[in-house]
Formats: sequence, structure tokens, C-alpha cells
Amino acid sequence: MSGIGHSGAGSLESRRAAALERLRPVGQDHVLAFWDTLGADARESLLAQVESLPMDVIDREARAIRAGAASAESVPAGLEPAPVLRRRDIDTGHWSAAGARVIGAGRVACFTVAGGQGTRLGWDGPKGIFPATPLAAKPLFQVFAEGIAAARARFGAMVRWYIMTSPLNHAQTHDFLAAHSWFGLGAGTVTLIPQGTLPSLSRDGRILMASPSAVAVNPDGHGGAVRALRDSGALDQMRREGIDTLSMFQVDNPLVRVVDPLFIGLHAEHPSSSAEASSKVVPKRNAAEKVGVFCASGGRTMVVEYSDLPAGLASSTSPDGSLRFSAGSIAIHAFGVPFLERIAAGARALPLHHAAKKVPHVGIPDGRMVEPASPNAVKLETFIFDAVPLALRALVLETDRAEEFAPIKNAEGEDSPASSRTAQLDRAARWLESRGSRVARDASGALRCEIEISPLTACDASEIPASRIPREVSAGERILL
Ligand code: UD1
Repeated sequence: MSGIGHSGAGSLESRRAAALERLRPVGQDHVLAFWDTLGADARESLLAQVESLPMDVIDREARAIRAGAASAESVPAGLEPAPVLRRRDIDTGHWSAAGARVIGAGRVACFTVAGGQGTRLGWDGPKGIFPATPLAAKPLFQVFAEGIAAARARFGAMVRWYIMTSPLNHAQTHDFLAAHSWFGLGAGTVTLIPQGTLPSLSRDGRILMASPSAVAVNPDGHGGAVRALRDSGALDQMRREGIDTLSMFQVDNPLVRVVDPLFIGLHAEHPSSSAEASSKVVPKRNAAEKVGVFCASGGRTMVVEYSDLPAGLASSTSPDGSLRFSAGSIAIHAFGVPFLERIAAGARALPLHHAAKKVPHVGIPDGRMVEPASPNAVKLETFIFDAVPLALRALVLETDRAEEFAPIKNAEGEDSPASSRTAQLDRAARWLESRGSRVARDASGALRCEIEISPLTACDASEIPASRIPREVSAGERILL
């Protein structure tokens, strides 16, 4: 026993020396400040963390923080609005049929980014568990699962589902989906992939410690998906199975059409697409709406995040008074699998963004816990939409907000459970009305009844079976289709 203990301690010592050699030159050796107070397990765990830190990246970003530069946040000069494809300008029947062939050939998988912490919503747990639908209170994950099941049935092909979790919510997400029998999709066809983390840095670029033996980390942003998809073997699985298109969406939007034949058809075959990175947008509600904006610079299409778009550009208008930069990202993309493989191969890494954040941490050297009242730290993250400018040609399709976008992000007000509920009810009512139902509304047009349509019943108005369309939905009625 003691022999094993000794050799373990010896190797710990040499690993500690190696760790210090990595940390010291970049001014981060305080990470080992509590070494002498730690037991063997804690030392082991701390060393494993240090060994996995991308020190060159951390050092680059720490220098940028100290220099006051906001790394990826600088917006290129001469920014223009991105060219956008509108439904009225395309033959939607033609492109939907093209997409149906792609989906029917088993070439499409879904990908949900669900690694976020849902802090704004004040929901304790993975957001996908949040009860989102107006009558059945289905969790977001169930809504998406039903959309995927519907696509499998309609197009007669397998549609796999990849979900990116974070180390903070992976176990809970897994247990929830397993407890619900993967909502009937088949466990082997749903893959959870935890994303990576990056250390949180102080405002002078020092790695913060969550405890004497743990670096404070945050999920590495949804751009972490590229690496997570590769490292988990998901990209290889897709290649083996002939899946060349990922239909990507965020966990917060119950109106998303998870597999949209029109969008997939345009992505795969339209001349303005290189089948690498396509995106959906809606006209921004107003200059202040918190959505990324599709812009163009130097012939490349890119998303400028709302927090980075200079106020002057955000509010600039065209001669007709409309917002110039109005193509709001609803975070629905189609990505080519070979394209993601190329980015994952790393020749062009996604840039790191900095966000101010409150991070509780251990004070050094006193070891006392610091609970900040205001942002004290910088969180480093990458964004998946930074892949868009790396595409040869990036297609951007404008779509209808009322049909496809009602996210649940905030506890109240815009983009809240209440606003999403209203949008879901409105869409269901409109679908029935477009198929001839008379739906009870008051004089102002507000609904006086409640209708919920499962994606298993229909993913658009035309899919509702005629036999299920009520002639009338009267005031006070609640209908679940
Ligand atoms: C996001 C987009 C914004 C877009 C808007 C549309 C970003 C940075 N911004 O804003 O451009 O217009 O949605 O609704 O995405 N996530 C992870 N891992 C992470 C961080 C986030 O998987 O490390 C996931 C979340 O679970 C969520 C999504 O990414 O599904 C969006 O994250 P969030 O930080 O809420 O972005 P928004 O500010 O809503």
C-alpha cells in the first residue's frame, strides 16, 4: 500500500512541477496557491484541470482583457445588411420538394444546443424541461421530440437527434429524457453531448478559483458544439450514416419547425447556398430587440451579436423609415456536416467573445469565499454563428415570426413563458382558421378559446388532417389536437 502511495505522491510532485511550468510563464501560478492544504484526491483533481487548460488561449485572452481590448467584439468597418432571401421571391413548392428528397434520403439530423444555464428565466434546471405548451404543458424537449417523430413518419427516414448539454446540466437532462423513454424516439437515436468549459477570468485576466482545488469554469458557449460534435464521435457517425446536414435550433423556441423541408431544400440546393451554413431570420421588432443581426462585410455574411452592434447602426434606418439592420437571427441554422468537420479540424477556430459575469470565487491567499454583488469576471465563449462567415456562400432566409419564433428566455415580458404561450395559441388558431374553422375571438381579434396542436398532428396548417378540423371553436373551449 505504502509503495503505491509513494509512487502516486511522487508522480503528483512531478506533475505539479510540470503544471507550474505551464502556469508560471503566463502569470497564473496562483491556481496552485492552496496546494499545501490539499489532500491527495484534491491535488489529483486540480492537476487534471490544469493539464486540460488551453494555456495559450487563456494567455491570449488574459492579455486582451488587461489591454482593455474586447477580442472578438470589434465590428468590421463598412458593415452592410446581409442579402436575404424572401419567400415571395422563391418557388416554395419546388424547394420544399427538394428538401423532402434530402430528408427522405436520411441525410438530415437535428441538433439542439441546450447547454445554457437559463439564468434569465429563473428556472432551476435544464431549460428543455420547462413546461412550455399552453394546454398540455409539454416540456420543450417533448415538443422537439414530437417534431422529430413527425418528420421521421412524414419523410419515411431516420432523423437522429443530437443534444448539446453542459457539464452543469448533462446528468439532469439525461435522467429526464431517460425517465420519459426518450419520448418514444428510441434511446439509440438520441445522443447527448456535453460541451466543454473554459476558465472564468478576473478583470485583470487571472484564472478564478471556485474552491482551493477547483478552477472556476463556465460552459464554452454554443460554438463549443463544433468541437463537442467531433470529439464525441458524432461527426464520424453522421459521415458513416450518410447524414450531411444538421438542422440546428436552440432549446428555447417551441415554435421551431425542427425539420423544415423548405429550409433544407434551399440549404442543400439553392444557388446562393454552398450547403455549408444557412440561417433563418425575422425582421427585428425594434432597434433594441436582443437578437443577433445578419450583416455583410467584404463579401462575407456574418452575425453581429446584439451586444456588439453599435447603437448607431442598430437604430439606423432606410429612406422608408424601416431599420437598415433588421435581419434578426432566430438561431435556426442548417450546417453541412463536411463544413463542420472542416472547422473542427481547426484551421480557422471560432473567435472567443468576452462577457461580464458574477463569479463567486476563493480569495487568494486568504482562502475566503468572495460573493460578488456585481460582475467581477469575464466569461469566455464561442458562438456557433461565427461559423457563418467561414462558409463559401451563406444563405439567409427570412421567415414569419408568428409562425416560427416565440422563445422562452425571460421570466416576464417579451420572450417569456406568457408571450410564448400567446404566440403558440395564436398560431394554432390561425392554422385552424386557414383550414376553414370559425374560431371565437373578441371584437379586438383576441382569442376567446385555447387551441394547442401537437407537432405529431401537424407541423404546418396544411398537415392538419381534415377529419380533425372542427367547424367551430367556441368561446371558452379548450382544444388539444
Ligand atoms: C441567442 C443568440 C442571438 C439570437 C437569439 C435568438 C447567442 C450568443 N445569441 O441569444 O444571436 O438572436 O438567441 O433567440 O446565442 N447555449 C449552449 N451553451 C452555452 C451557451 C448557450 O448550449 O454555453 C445554448 C442555450 O442553451 C440556448 C442558446 O444557446 O439554447 C442561446 O443561448 P442564450 O445565451 O440564451 O442566447 P440569447 O441571449 O438568447
